[in-house]
Amino acid sequence: MTSNILVTGGAGYVGSHTVVELINAGYSVVVLDNLVNASMESIKRVEEITGKSVPSHSIDLLDRNALEGLFKKYKFSAVMHFAGLKAVGESCELPLLYYKTNLVGTINLLEVMKENGVYNMIFSSSATVYGAPVYLPLDENHPVGGCTNPYGKTKYFIENMLIDLCKADNQWNIILLRYFNPVGSHISGKIGESPQGVPNNLMPYVAQVAVGKRKELTVYGEDYDTPDGTGVRDYIHVVDLALGHLAALKKLDEKCGCKIYNLGTGKGYSVLDMVKAFEKASGKPIPYKITARRLGDIASCYADASLAENELHWKAERSLDQMCEDLWRWQSMNPNGYL
Ligand code: NAD
Ligand code: UD1
Repeated sequence: MTSNILVTGGAGYVGSHTVVELINAGYSVVVLDNLVNASMESIKRVEEITGKSVPSHSIDLLDRNALEGLFKKYKFSAVMHFAGLKAVGESCELPLLYYKTNLVGTINLLEVMKENGVYNMIFSSSATVYGAPVYLPLDENHPVGGCTNPYGKTKYFIENMLIDLCKADNQWNIILLRYFNPVGSHISGKIGESPQGVPNNLMPYVAQVAVGKRKELTVYGEDYDTPDGTGVRDYIHVVDLALGHLAALKKLDEKCGCKIYNLGTGKGYSVLDMVKAFEKASGKPIPYKITARRLGDIASCYADASLAENELHWKAERSLDQMCEDLWRWQSMNPNGYL
């Protein structure tokens, strides 16, 4: 038996990009995914990119027996935990599904890890835990918990659970990574974000307008207190985000206990900045109309990314143009995603 990294949700958007970077860095990887929001085609593409085969198991985190079987089959040195449900609107309609999948799924995973002596985890949290910013940029000491939807609350609850676990038992080393807004795709154009149905997030929607799948973008509000009145976010290239996970994995080797890091660029761009950048990258016009604000949206959100730079020696390197060029390559090569 060799030492492996277990990647839950490894067939998904951020997980698949992280699997590529793990393999490129020489790690061996095992993927667990129930494929509720992904397809095994993404893993096939990862295998094409890396030239390595990736053992993948279609397992639900709620299936405790299957999880135990997986931990018997492999010896894991750490778990990267991406698996979960992430649609904000759906979480308001189906709160129990979200609490069960995200919370019970994580508890099952932690219990099985403990039973098997695996005490290292990297968890996908979100800047959503900060709620409405009291100050900007958001550093890791900013108050958390003002989440307005069940999805955000699951991230906040899991963060607390993991912090308590590390306090109770110092064998655990757990890094909570608070992602800002991941966009873009691998430079090959082979893997990327493949939303089911109408995309909720800005950039997948913009990309679908450019490729002719949607008529126009709806811009949610132009009366925010921002330079051009539209919402400002910290967009981070998904490959930079993936590399942040590798930096965190090295930190776990120091037996770091519980640590929390923002993964963002520290720069904010407005909706209209993003539209312009994508028009430039794709050479396509992005028609848009302006409507009322989206419920639950905030004006601006961007990271103070200095803690990750100082302690993980990681920094987002890819520019806004690269984010848009790589997203366009993926979208134009795969107009219907993995379908
Ligand atoms: P994704 O939906 O593409 O990936 C999540 C994966 O988990 C999917 O492949 C899905 O099939 C799998 N999954 C869901 N429930 C499962 C279960 N019960 N058992 C096993 N597998 C299950 O999402 P993503 O964008 O790659 O996000 C990865 C993680 O990062 C998620 O936890 C998400 O909440 C978090 N996050 C994402 C963003 C973002 O904007 N993409 C921002 C902040 C945090
Ligand atoms: C959304 C989620 C948040 C999650 C984050 C990253 C909501 C309310 N919030 O946040 O919980 O952590 O994604 O996955 O869904 N926009 C448009 N038109 C669109 C889509 C978006 O104008 O069709 C605007 C939004 O108003 C916002 C910006 O684009 O100003 C970015 O939106 P989005 O990509 O959904 O990300 P977040 O709002 O940061």
